Amino acid sequence: MTQTVTALIVAAGRGSRAGGGLPKQYRLLDGQPVLARSIQALLAHASVGAVQVVIHPDDLALYKAAVQGLEGLLPPVYGGDTRSASVLNGLEALADSAPDIVLIHDAARPFLPLKIIDNLLAELQTARGAFPALPVVDALWHGGGGFAEAPQNRAGLYRAQTPQAFDFATILKAHQTATTPADDDVALARMHGMNVAIVDGDERNYKLTTQADFDRAERGSTMDIRTGNGFDVHAFTTGDAVILGGVKIPHSHALLGHSDADVAMHAITDALFGALAEGDIGQWFPPSEARWKGAASDIFLQKAVERVARRGFSISNIDCTIICEAPKIGPHAAAMRAEIAKLCGIAPERISIKATTSEKLGFTGRKEGIAAMATTTLVKL
Ligand code: CTP
Ligand code: MG
Repeated sequence: MTQTVTALIVAAGRGSRAGGGLPKQYRLLDGQPVLARSIQALLAHASVGAVQVVIHPDDLALYKAAVQGLEGLLPPVYGGDTRSASVLNGLEALADSAPDIVLIHDAARPFLPLKIIDNLLAELQTARGAFPALPVVDALWHGGGGFAEAPQNRAGLYRAQTPQAFDFATILKAHQTATTPADDDVALARMHGMNVAIVDGDERNYKLTTQADFDRAERGSTMDIRTGNGFDVHAFTTGDAVILGGVKIPHSHALLGHSDADVAMHAITDALFGALAEGDIGQWFPPSEARWKGAASDIFLQKAVERVARRGFSISNIDCTIICEAPKIGPHAAAMRAEIAKLCGIAPERISIKATTSEKLGFTGRKEGIAAMATTTLVKL
């Protein structure tokens, strides 16, 4: 059974350290409120079903303006004087719908990479709590009055980030029974005796705390956007099914190729390599090498997706057109989108699969084979 996942975003703070005239979660970055970016970062993950935001009672108008046009939001609830109090209010608002898993996130971390959510949800298959963190790398010192006093061993020390992911019922109980306030939800979970796993955090997921953080965000806001295209053709041969977009479709012929001849997945893979300017599928997986013979094309796409992540990009969207007279693609498009989305680690809403005939013209029109073309956009914040 798939688990239901709801994100809880705490946005009830005053942002006193950041200054700037209005609470930091409502300030604009590249024309978009910080809070809207944080909400979108969570909703971009296929597993996140809904987002609950906790706001300050003074901010209702700011909130409404910030979330205009966003879908998947539950009605906002009001927070309390401390972060813990705000989280508790949010958790209690979710008690009726009670998701299996809750991801508790700071509104002030708008640059959350999808990979962190993947890491957390993978860990929650076995653990009841997990959070992203980065090992401390700088030397640490206790100081006072402007002078160093005593060194602090940094071994085993981590900097915690959000979202912090928990089994919903357990973290709700931990909050309801807590007697002392805590800086974050891991601290509360630990007080409640829960084991909380550490997963890889990401430097990009920093918290906007001071004006210097906003300056950094603005400097880095010249987004790096790359577009790539891919094209592929495979000829028909004898057989009873074709594989397109990872989905096996019964047909009067099969497609001929060194691998499984999944022309759509090949076009998509080449679009990703193209956007990175890292060659093409043939360079990464030479047809001359016997080990790729009959290979499922997932491994090609997975390699491209891995390269995208290594280079620090996220896949914003993929659009693929399959050109053939038959088989009919429409009935299988949803399954293909789901399969490609799974392999890319993004929501199916970001994948488009369309089809066209070529009006009986040319090799596709003569039913000699199938062609596919794909376009992708990659983004690095
Ligand atoms: N937060 C909250 N309720 C509070 C305090 C904080 O919902 N009573 C939220 C903030 O809105 C923020 C997150 O918790 O998204 C992390 O807190 P922090 O970075 O400290 O934000 P602020 O409290 O707003 O900032 P400051 O401490 O500088 O006033
Ligand atoms: Mg604070």
